[in-house]
Amino acid sequence: MHGVIPDSSKQRFRDIYPLVPARMAHGFADHPLLTLDALAGLAARMRPDTLEHNAAIDVPLGTPTTKLPPNGLTTLQTIEQIETCGSWVLLREIEQDPAYAVLMADVLGELRPIIEARTGPMHKLRAFIFISSPQAVTQPHFDPEYNILFQAHGAKTMTLFPTADDQIVGQRFFESYFAGGQRYLPWREEHGQRGQAIAIEPGESIFVPLFAPHHVKVHEAVSVSLSLTWCSAWSFAAIDAHKFNRRLRRLGLSPAAPRLFPAGNRVKALGERAAQRIERAVGR
Ligand SMILES: [Fe+2]
Repeated sequence: MHGVIPDSSKQRFRDIYPLVPARMAHGFADHPLLTLDALAGLAARMRPDTLEHNAAIDVPLGTPTTKLPPNGLTTLQTIEQIETCGSWVLLREIEQDPAYAVLMADVLGELRPIIEARTGPMHKLRAFIFISSPQAVTQPHFDPEYNILFQAHGAKTMTLFPTADDQIVGQRFFESYFAGGQRYLPWREEHGQRGQAIAIEPGESIFVPLFAPHHVKVHEAVSVSLSLTWCSAWSFAAIDAHKFNRRLRRLGLSPAAPRLFPAGNRVKALGERAAQRIERAVGR
């Protein structure tokens, strides 16, 4: 498979990567690996620790993941009943399956020259599938990698927020997240006004910038989306800078926020990596 990203979308991506959310087009919504039957087969083959599902309708924005009600079904049953069970399924790291690894490599291969020209070599390439009931909601959160969400079936609206809006995600939240804290953002109604809503249907995709908070709502039909993610030396350094800032804050300091792309965070990242080496050496 090749030629699935039209030239106009490659040009758009070249213009916006890695800072600006954008809607683009793609040509593989009807790929046989993205049907519900194929995905039920995939879920049955996957490592159990990479399957997730939750009830996902009538849940207010800001509900922590740990408080989402279970739907009483297995992941496979949830996929089979997705039309009616008001739920959300996440298949994580589907590149564990060889056929899906090829799909990921084919699609990201078309974008690799554009990505690597801006943010250097790609690392930690991963693929995820979201299967959602009509009206399902994904709670506000951010992700520590670059992401393109490709819509295969149904439609959804993602509302994205600026990466560096500290009214929405304060530095302390980033720091606790990277220390293993909760992933879902505390939510206040007034955050809504700062968001940019982008709707996608089959054949469309959204680029989600690194750390950009977002929430998602599915429209009136079952939705299937493929999310392809990657990291860079820049993104790793930004994460390490957040971790180093947590150390500085513990010492009573008020560190500056990590710098925004294209400025780097080399000094703090080196500090964090040195501190981790020392901790390992002393067995902490
Ligand atoms: Fe996300």
